[in-house]
Amino acid sequence: MAAKTLQYVHGHAPEELDRLMGSADTLRELLHGDIEYHTGALVLEAGCGVGAQTRFLLEHCPGITLVSVDVVREALSRARAAIGRGAHFLQSDLYQLPFAPGAFDHIFVCFVLEHLPDPLGALNTLKLLLKPGGTLTVIEGDHGSAFFYPETPEALAAWRCLQRLQLQTSGDGHIGRRLFALMRDSGATAVRVTPLPVYCDPSRPAMMEGFADKTIVGMLNGIEEQVIARKMIPRETWRKGLQDLINLSKSQDGTFMYTFFRAVGLYGP
Ligand SMILES: C[S@@+](CC[C@H](N)C(=O)[O-])C[C@H]1O[C@@H](n2cnc3c(N)ncnc32)[C@H](O)[C@@H]1O
Repeated sequence: MAAKTLQYVHGHAPEELDRLMGSADTLRELLHGDIEYHTGALVLEAGCGVGAQTRFLLEHCPGITLVSVDVVREALSRARAAIGRGAHFLQSDLYQLPFAPGAFDHIFVCFVLEHLPDPLGALNTLKLLLKPGGTLTVIEGDHGSAFFYPETPEALAAWRCLQRLQLQTSGDGHIGRRLFALMRDSGATAVRVTPLPVYCDPSRPAMMEGFADKTIVGMLNGIEEQVIARKMIPRETWRKGLQDLINLSKSQDGTFMYTFFRAVGLYGP
């Protein structure tokens, strides 16, 4: 993996790849509802992973030509298998893409900057690939935006482990709140950041299962060994915290709140 890319904290195990797919299904309308790329546009998806967003880009904007790149071969194989010939897939580091300056009408980046040690450098590199007047869309979460009920000390401690682990190993899990500054500092004009809140309670069972249980608990499940090895939390506390979050997602009182952020910036005159 490229020097500018640190370890992907959630790994590339099949369960993690499934989690990304399931999570994208749950968040589809929230993340993609407002994205409109015109017919004939050439669009770059940087850090496509297993193609979880690729599917929806193609479905929402069927007239585009989509080029989807990722640095990890296993993820791309999954993406190719899921999408087929709908997109052009390429294994490449987004800091060193083999495209001519000004090649693309739009660039789409989802859940990638949070894992990079130099997110501004990534934007500065990607923007060169845009035609004048092209747009760059970035979607990221912010783990500091989460709150939930019941909030047991163990569940809170487990959640905080994710925040600390990501800071220690791969970037910034609180990057959502920085998107405006990052986009502006990369030279974007007319930067527009939209908060995309996810709220789960028992009246929204699909959201509770798809987001609180499968996405949030699934994300924590994947980092158990790392947080234990780093002595961030005793295993019993971790397990109790996870069980509390699972119980929350099945309880008649439980709620979970989280906010994603989508930033769109225009580059060039
Ligand atoms: C959390 S996944 C998100 C994947 C996809 N965008 C989605 O929303 O499901 C982050 C992806 O960024 C990729 N990635 C990280 N650093 C990269 C780099 N320098 N160049 C290209 N891809 C990179 C990882 O391999 C991983 O597939």
